[in-house]
Amino acid sequence: MFAHDGGNGMNRIYLDYAATTPVRPEVIDAMTRAMETVPGNPSSIYTTGRLAKYQLTQARDELAAVLGVPGNELIFTSGGTEADNLAIKGLALANQHKGRHIITSQVEHKAVLDSCHRLQEWGFEVTYLPTDKWGLVDPEVLRAALRPDTILVSLIWVNNELGSVNPIAELGKVVQQHGALFHTDAVQSLGRLTINAGNLPVNALSVSAHKIYGPKGVGALWLRKGTALQPLVEGGAQESNLRGGTENLPGIVGFATAARLIEKERSARWAEEQALMDDLRRELAEIPGVRINTHPEQRVPTILNISIPHVDGESLFINLDLASVAVSNGSACTSGAQQPSSVLTAIGLPDDLARATIRISIGRETTRETLGSFTEILKREVHKLQKKSKAIA
Ligand SMILES: Cc1ncc(COP(=O)(O)O)c(C=O)c1O
Repeated sequence: MFAHDGGNGMNRIYLDYAATTPVRPEVIDAMTRAMETVPGNPSSIYTTGRLAKYQLTQARDELAAVLGVPGNELIFTSGGTEADNLAIKGLALANQHKGRHIITSQVEHKAVLDSCHRLQEWGFEVTYLPTDKWGLVDPEVLRAALRPDTILVSLIWVNNELGSVNPIAELGKVVQQHGALFHTDAVQSLGRLTINAGNLPVNALSVSAHKIYGPKGVGALWLRKGTALQPLVEGGAQESNLRGGTENLPGIVGFATAARLIEKERSARWAEEQALMDDLRRELAEIPGVRINTHPEQRVPTILNISIPHVDGESLFINLDLASVAVSNGSACTSGAQQPSSVLTAIGLPDDLARATIRISIGRETTRETLGSFTEILKREVHKLQKKSKAIA
């Protein structure tokens, strides 16, 4: 099993569900069935193709129902990264005649930040909003940054590193009043929050399958009807002419199945995960000097981000891996060098503390026992390293 395997090279204590989730058996079944029984190309006009198209439409409607939008407003992509690229670059390029100013925040996923950097190279101006210490954007700070030439605002809903939840409806209202377009990266929101995108002051929203026990390599961008978008992948009329290429039908069927199942379980799981996470938060708050970076209330119950002072971050992660624990660290590997994550720097953490930062994210297989073992191992390793660092000091 994914979380407690012990035999296939996987970490025994898997607490990195925000990085990816194991594909659930019902999804594997649905995908296998699609591959075995739906061999056609959805664009072919004979019966085999039409059957594939029917299956694609069913899956599209299923995912759309979970997002609270019409099926024909979804554009399937190769994942969250492509959906973010398509939203940022596609909306900016299609609307540049109205202005060339974009607003985002300093704590976005790299898919958004790097798309914005590219737009700067293409002559757009980008404002990167600061956040509070939890990574949240203040609607008044956003309001003050809007300019007559602002055409697009993109803000993350649930922060993938911190688990803090931006007030997306309130932020969207500010953008809507101004008349600009609003995109949100909802990759970490799907399966955790009620999305109901059609009723939000949002024009575009990105999601991904592998964060909700679906397959890797499939995602979607919801684009509100009437919003102009420049396609990035060209070469076919698929996805309403907005994303060329034969659709990844098994992946899309898997995505829709995963979305339907997680939506059904969502509120019951929230309560369970909240109980587990509250206990974990209390336990870890006992670590000397620990700083908790996840907002105490505006958060999802699946992610906890903490920084531990007086420990060498790299040694901590090596020791945790040796103890068979998989958690995410506060560094990104850039050109072979470990750089502190830009999100952690943006919320005000100094480099050494950012390097000694852990993101713990829980999921369907996480039990009280898993978290008990993890807490014991973490406290033991932190104690050893803090003692060593004091001895050196
Ligand atoms: C908030 C957020 N946006 C975008 C992505 C990228 O999604 P994908 O891995 O499907 O490309 C991720 C995944 O790491 C994410 O957490």
